[in-house]
This record gives sequence, structure tokens and C-alpha cells, in this order.
Amino acid sequence: MIAVLHLILIGAPGSGKGTQAKRLVSKFDIVHISTGDMLREAVHSGSDLGELISTYLRAGRLVPDNHVTALVEERVDRGDVPNGFVIDGYPRTINQIQAFADLMKARSRRLAAVVCIDVPDVSVISRMANRRIDPETGRIYNLNLKADWPSLDIMERLVQRDDDRPDVIKQRLDTYRAETEPVIEAYRGTGELIEVNGSGTPDEVFERVTHGLATVTESS
Ligand code: AP5
Repeated sequence: MIAVLHLILIGAPGSGKGTQAKRLVSKFDIVHISTGDMLREAVHSGSDLGELISTYLRAGRLVPDNHVTALVEERVDRGDVPNGFVIDGYPRTINQIQAFADLMKARSRRLAAVVCIDVPDVSVISRMANRRIDPETGRIYNLNLKADWPSLDIMERLVQRDDDRPDVIKQRLDTYRAETEPVIEAYRGTGELIEVNGSGTPDEVFERVTHGLATVTESS
């Protein structure tokens, strides 16, 4: 077992970052930092900042870098990340790469790898359209995965994310192409990028993720 592990998960909206992050958390006993979840929490808090953030989320556009970086800093500094973290959804712009590098350096933390989950557009569109969330437990379901269906009473309370509507999905994919694909390209140049085929069942994808991470986790 390794001492400390810091990972980034990157990929298109709906590619399965959150699904794989949860598996990494239980395998490596690290913390899941999801900028999407933190931003949705800010919206639900009803604060003025939350109100501002909701306008970006509902439009499928990125929240300004300074707000997101401040949330990440606050989360990393909370003191409950001794074994490291998997950060899902950040950095997603070229500016955020530098902000994240500065943040890590200032805390003497070292990034182990950037795992990129690669899924064709047709699949991510279907995954997002069929995603449902249990508001009581936060558990995410894909209505396409019958084996994953919950009991009828849970099924009845499932909700859809506001940004999983077709028009917003399209904007999120456009934003991903324009803002986040260049981030993947930048990490490719550093040798830190591990690219994983995200098609197949969540367990099959996780197998590939852990295989890709084997060298990193053995040498950390
Ligand atoms: P965020 O919440 O991060 O959304 P996203 O990147 O668009 O990713 P998703 O949460 O939609 O998908 P995922 O890849 O986690 O997939 P999941 O595992 O859920 O961000 C939301 C918004 O916040 C952004 O649009 C932006 O406005 C803002 N934001 C966030 N970070 C920001 C940043 N750094 N800077 C600026 N703004 C930021 O899976 C999806 C579905 O597929 C689920 O139903 C799941 O059950 C299913 N599924 C998963 N894996 C599989 C599989 N292998 N086979 C079949 N189904 C699968």
C-alpha cells in the first residue's frame, strides 16, 4: 500500500469520473474532491455566490476560475486528507492547471497521475440523459443499466440533474471541447497522463484504471 496518492480524473461530462472516483476512494482510502458536487452544494446553500454559480451550471458553462480554485483550496486545507485525494472535474481550463500546480507546490503535495476517461460522445449523451440521483443518499443510477436498478420505492424518488437536459448537455460538450481538451493535451506533454478506455461496465473500466495506475502506485 502506498503512503499518499494525489490523482486527477478528467474526461467528458458523463464519462464516468464520479463513478470511478468512488471506487478509487475505497481502494486507496483517499478523499473524493468533486468540483461539480461542491458547486451544487454552493447553489443549494442559497447564498449570493450560490445564486451566481447556478447561472453558469444551468447554462452548461464553466464557473469562473477564481471561484472554483478557492473551493478546491478550502477543501484540500480541511485537514482530513492525510492519504491524498482524487480530484474530479478540476483543472478544466489552462488557467486552472497553473492554479492547481501552485496550490500543490505551496502544500508540498505531489501529483501522481492524471487519469483521462475516454468515452465516445454517443455514450456520454446517453449516460447523462439516463442518469438519475437518489436525493436521500446521493447515489447515482443509470437507467440503462438494468442490473443497477433500485427497489421501486427508491426508483420513485429519483431525480434528474438540471444540467442533464438535452440543450445543456450539448453546451457542456461544446465547453469541454473548447476549454478542457486543451488541458488533456497539456498533461499529455508532461508524461503524467494515463488514458483509459471508458466503454464497458463500471467494473471493467475500473480494472483498466487500476491497471494504468499500477506503475504509479507501486513507485509512490
Ligand atoms: P460536474 O458535476 O463535474 O459535471 P461533468 O464533468 O459534466 O461530469 P458529470 O458529473 O456529468 O459526469 P461524470 O463524468 O462524473 O459521470 P458519472 O460518473 O456521474 O460539473 C458540473 C458543472 O459544474 C460544469 O458543467 C460546470 O458548470 C461546473 N464546474 C465543475 N467543475 C468546474 C471547474 N473546474 N471549473 C469551472 N466550472 C466547473 O456517470 C454519468 C452516468 O453514467 C451515471 O448515470 C452513471 O451511473 C453512468 N455510468 C458511469 N460509468 C458507466 C459505465 N461504465 N457504463 C454505463 N454507465 C455508466
